[in-house]
Amino acid sequence: MAHFEKATSIHDWLNQRLAIDTIKRVMATEYWIPKNINFLWAMGMVLAVTFGLLLISGIFLLMYYKPDVNLAFDSVNYTIMSEVGYGWLWRHIHGVAASVIFLVIYIHMFTAIYYGSYKQGREMIWLSGMLLFVTFSGEAFSGYMLPWGQMSYWAGMVITNLFSAGSLELNGIVEWIRGDYVPGDAFLTRFFMLHVLLMPLAILALIGLHFGALRIPHVNNQDGEEIDFEAESKRYLAGDTKNAKVIRFQWDFLSKDIFVLGVFLIFFFYLVFYHYEFAMDPVNFDPADGLKTPPHIYPEWYFLWSYEILRPFPKDPGLIAFGFAQIAFFLLPFLDRSPNVAPANRRGLFAIWFWVMLIDMITLTVMGKLPPQGVFNTIGGIAAWTFIGLWIALPIITILEKKK
Ligand code: HEM
Repeated sequence: MAHFEKATSIHDWLNQRLAIDTIKRVMATEYWIPKNINFLWAMGMVLAVTFGLLLISGIFLLMYYKPDVNLAFDSVNYTIMSEVGYGWLWRHIHGVAASVIFLVIYIHMFTAIYYGSYKQGREMIWLSGMLLFVTFSGEAFSGYMLPWGQMSYWAGMVITNLFSAGSLELNGIVEWIRGDYVPGDAFLTRFFMLHVLLMPLAILALIGLHFGALRIPHVNNQDGEEIDFEAESKRYLAGDTKNAKVIRFQWDFLSKDIFVLGVFLIFFFYLVFYHYEFAMDPVNFDPADGLKTPPHIYPEWYFLWSYEILRPFPKDPGLIAFGFAQIAFFLLPFLDRSPNVAPANRRGLFAIWFWVMLIDMITLTVMGKLPPQGVFNTIGGIAAWTFIGLWIALPIITILEKKK
């Protein structure tokens, strides 16, 4: 049994039992961050806070939501929106946060790609990030089912159909997932469980893994400089804070994070109060009807790029291309064969690869929203092939890259 002294304060009492001073030092005041990073490195914190907003608003919505095909639509569109005090506010916060979090995730991912923050010891940060991307996608999709509107029903139908694996016609799997021949009550309640329990638990665990994976390699910096964190932190602690290449997480870096977060929250609440409709599809304000197929079924904007990779191809090649799009980003640290950790603009051909990939994904997103006809089909097809070609080209251009 450890020896305990009579505590001199509440802080001391807690410290003797929970070592809070050590935790604070390891996690915050002596957690070293490079000086040469810009506002894009605040996106991780923005994501964590937006996820917090989703959790809190979700808890309030859960108090009134009814996971039953006969009651779900009204519980959202009538009870929460007009009977519950400020129910509309929680719904708008939840809807806008669900959409905006994907924008920030994409910015965060493309920052990591631009600066090469996924390799040379940072592979686990990237892989845990990709697992977060997949679980967030599952969380968003399952949440989209819950209002039980027309788009919930028909998007649910289309996406679960993908599990029949095209010509393999594994229809038993589709029915097993749905719990019925078509989306119905069993479908709604199991997606409800996924949305409010299993996915959030997985996300929390993965955020823990993501933060843990950052600990040993530390965050990258905007010059790709290999910093000796031990030596630089000693220099900082010895008082030479001006020449040290690192700063403390708390409060040095955290104050910058909080500033960026403040700017983000102004933008976020502007959307919540004045433009929440961008996050809500008008078609989903009609109750689900299994006998009335909407003329044009499309997913939310953040899934459009991968949906558009599926669409221009016939059934089976389309599914293969779609499957490829899902795993390609996971493989990034292993397909990039160059040892250089540097901003893309200093990496020759990789700079072209990066910008073409970004423009291509925006093109796929725009085309995915438009009806699959005429010129849109052609542009979508070219963009889908370009996406595949870029991933095949990546190992080749990075092997050719000169070591810096
Ligand atoms: C809700 C989800 C996520 C949260 C809360 C989160 C949080 C964070 C935080 C706090 C950091 C350190 C500061 C920063 O660079 O912003 C970070 C870094 C990083 N994240 Fe995430 N992240 C999430 C999703 C993702 C995704 C989807 C990816 C991509 C696959 C990803 C890849 C990375 C990488 C590679 C770094 C290292 C950046 C560097 O070393 O410069 N993260 N993340």
